[in-house]
Amino acid sequence: MEMEKDSMKSWWKEAVVYQIYPRSFKDSNGDGIGDLNGITEKLDYLKELGIDVIWLSPVYESPNDDNGYDISNYQGIMKEFGTMDDFDRMLHAAHERGIRIVMDLVVNHTSDEHSWFVESRKSKENPYRDYYIWREGKDGQAPNNWESCFSGPTWEYDETTKMYYLHLFSKKQPDLNWDNPVVRKEVFRMMDWWCQKGIDGFRMDVISMISKVSGLPDGAQQENGYGDFSPFVCNGPHVHEYLQEMNREVLSKYDLLTVGECPGVTTKEAAQYAGFHTRELNMVFQFEHMNLDNKNGKWNDAKTDLVELKEVLSKWQTELMGKAWNSLYWCNHDQPRIVSRMGDDSEKYRELSAKMLATCLHMMQGTPYVYQGEELGMTNMPFHSFYELRDIESINAYHDLVDDGILDHEKMMRYIRCKGRDNARTPVQWDDSDNAGFTTGEPWIDVNPNFKEINAKEQMAREDSVFHYYQKLIKLRHEKDIIVYGEYKLLFANHPSLYVYSRTLGEEKLLVVCNFSKENQTMELPDDFQGKDVQVLISNYKDIEVRKELILRPYEAIVIMN
Ligand code: GLC
Ligand code: CA
Repeated sequence: MEMEKDSMKSWWKEAVVYQIYPRSFKDSNGDGIGDLNGITEKLDYLKELGIDVIWLSPVYESPNDDNGYDISNYQGIMKEFGTMDDFDRMLHAAHERGIRIVMDLVVNHTSDEHSWFVESRKSKENPYRDYYIWREGKDGQAPNNWESCFSGPTWEYDETTKMYYLHLFSKKQPDLNWDNPVVRKEVFRMMDWWCQKGIDGFRMDVISMISKVSGLPDGAQQENGYGDFSPFVCNGPHVHEYLQEMNREVLSKYDLLTVGECPGVTTKEAAQYAGFHTRELNMVFQFEHMNLDNKNGKWNDAKTDLVELKEVLSKWQTELMGKAWNSLYWCNHDQPRIVSRMGDDSEKYRELSAKMLATCLHMMQGTPYVYQGEELGMTNMPFHSFYELRDIESINAYHDLVDDGILDHEKMMRYIRCKGRDNARTPVQWDDSDNAGFTTGEPWIDVNPNFKEINAKEQMAREDSVFHYYQKLIKLRHEKDIIVYGEYKLLFANHPSLYVYSRTLGEEKLLVVCNFSKENQTMELPDDFQGKDVQVLISNYKDIEVRKELILRPYEAIVIMN
């Protein structure tokens, strides 16, 4: 067992990743937009936090219909973010500090302004025609009934050749045709070019969606008349074949961290995508735990049920054990802030619940991802006006639902405050000066008004801050094999307010107890932790007493080791 464990060790299993959304991280030149030099300025901050890897959301040339997830040149840097020299300087400065850089790879689609698409739409005979997915209309209508992720049909009619092209996201994000071997070759060549530059891995955007079922059949009709494309798009017929090819052609030649964003992935599929022996990716981002409060579609204010959350996360922990590797996340640029979502962002409980949530996630098996500002307990944004919104998803959904009278303005804004992606995209709060120290200019999106209370400068100076708590969690993971490799077991599965689990590695055992409520909760300490000299590894309260009858205070988290 011990032997087997050692041969299964990898740096990316022991690493903690920090996601940067460059537009909102740090502006270095006063144009209101975060940039590469801003990131370089803040590398010492990240070093102090203790993270090992940065995942950089897209920095490539882009017309920014979807903030860089619509790429017009994979080998150029977005003007607003700087130059390739700035990139090289940043990469070098990160490496000097022992921090690796993982790039976002967005290859399910390109921008419609990418030269491949500009060519492709010119004529049916164009050599780039088959780089994309073109179809004839059906009875003067779109080729099928699919609804795009950003509202409206997935098909755009193109006058020039009188055909439709497929776009699962915005119409400025045409889907690449992965069934075309030339497309795959081009993508692999581009990836290799970045690897040659010395980058350390890829986060692969909606990679589970690159292979579509042939025939592109209609999806089950939803209330709004559109069809659901997921069964024909997620984990499609050739996705594993294409990823194995990518692995052979590029990934296997370098020492990389690879993580696939995989909408619709199940644990069974994940064991293939991220299996220890399947030669595809290192790990996937799954969505099951993020979708528990989205059961009736995205736009609502439903809350996550803790018993269901435990069930889902425990399933991922136990079903991948020994087979594949998990990624662990609460937040990213597409999700609202976790402290507002599953914690309590009131002044009284904000820090306690942010630390509790962090404990719950960081003690699990898998590679943890921290999204910028999460380490400060940044909260959702009090958006009230449509004009404050920047995200194409929220803007399109607003038009769809409010303009057509399905929801009223107040309700939609409440849902956006709960679920909208812009919650994660307000600028990082560095200090209590103007615009939270993010920019000396006019920020591209408003700063959260709570920056005077929540900011990095204040937290770095205060020992019991959320920042220092994350720092400690990261350090513990680096020190203790059991946190990285230990086996997970859920306890008290049906308790409505406590999330309790153990980790076991050889003789060592760890107990993680998290109170997700603002009431006291009582719990009997499991036998293996009773009557022993237990050590408290970390806790978000000061005066802790470990006894047989454990009383957990509001949002208390405690990790003990026997
Ligand atoms: C992924 C990205 C999201 C983007 C979409 C289309 O889900 O994380 O931000 O809008 O793909 O590229
Ligand atoms: Ca700038």
